[in-house]
Amino acid sequence: MYSDFKTISTYYDALYVKDREYAPEAAKVRELLTRHGIPSQADLLVLACGTGGHIPYFTDHYRVSGLDLSEDMLDRARKKFPDVKFYLGNLIDFQLEADFDAMACLYGSIGFVRTVGNLRAAMKRIAAHLRPNGLVLITPWSTVEEFQDLIVVDAADRPDLKIARMEQVRLKEPKLVEVTFHHLLGKDNEVTYHKQSMEIGLFSREEYASAMTGAGLKVVEEYTGTDVRGGAYIGKRVPE
Ligand SMILES: C[S@@+](CC[C@H](N)C(=O)[O-])C[C@H]1O[C@@H](n2cnc3c(N)ncnc32)[C@H](O)[C@@H]1O
Repeated sequence: MYSDFKTISTYYDALYVKDREYAPEAAKVRELLTRHGIPSQADLLVLACGTGGHIPYFTDHYRVSGLDLSEDMLDRARKKFPDVKFYLGNLIDFQLEADFDAMACLYGSIGFVRTVGNLRAAMKRIAAHLRPNGLVLITPWSTVEEFQDLIVVDAADRPDLKIARMEQVRLKEPKLVEVTFHHLLGKDNEVTYHKQSMEIGLFSREEYASAMTGAGLKVVEEYTGTDVRGGAYIGKRVPE
């Protein structure tokens, strides 16, 4: 089930983490959290945080922690943010001795749980770690309603590292997308090729919303703007 980020972690930041996308996205997340009652200096857990691309935009505003399933991605995050606490954990069964005022799962990372059953399990783990009136903001990895096959093309050009990226995104099964990465890496006067496929669950809007309500979270907003890639479902743990 686990998508291996070992190789990609070595160049993830150079290829994917762009200030022009992460800064406004994090600013919008902060605005949405504030709108729904999360004060500054609240405890925020960034779920599936990867290398921590969003974290520098949160640390001035919240007490931030991160959680991810990949040791390799977390290693990068820990080096960049030695003062931030990072947990190794799986969205579908994590159990921490801490709870939080807010959580955010960004850039469609929730799709890596693959199945609706796992989505529902993840929401229950999230709800279990939220304080009363705590908030979770989840960006869906596309939805059944919006998905289209596509090929992504992009490049990174740094003095020490050049990357040409193509990714083929296709429906493999009715609710499962296969993303095949074709990455050409130019480093130390050599060009190498990395190919890897990952599977991502495609859930309907109703499945996202009902996974939240099934976990005891009230859907307080479905954000459909473009500042947060993929939009966002925002759920609140309403006190019983
Ligand atoms: C595409 S990366 C996005 C990372 C980060 N959210 C960002 O926006 O840069 C997806 C991340 O999800 C993590 N991941 C995948 N499945 C997971 C799971 N079941 N539990 C926790 N993290 C998971 C991967 O290790 C990876 O770091």
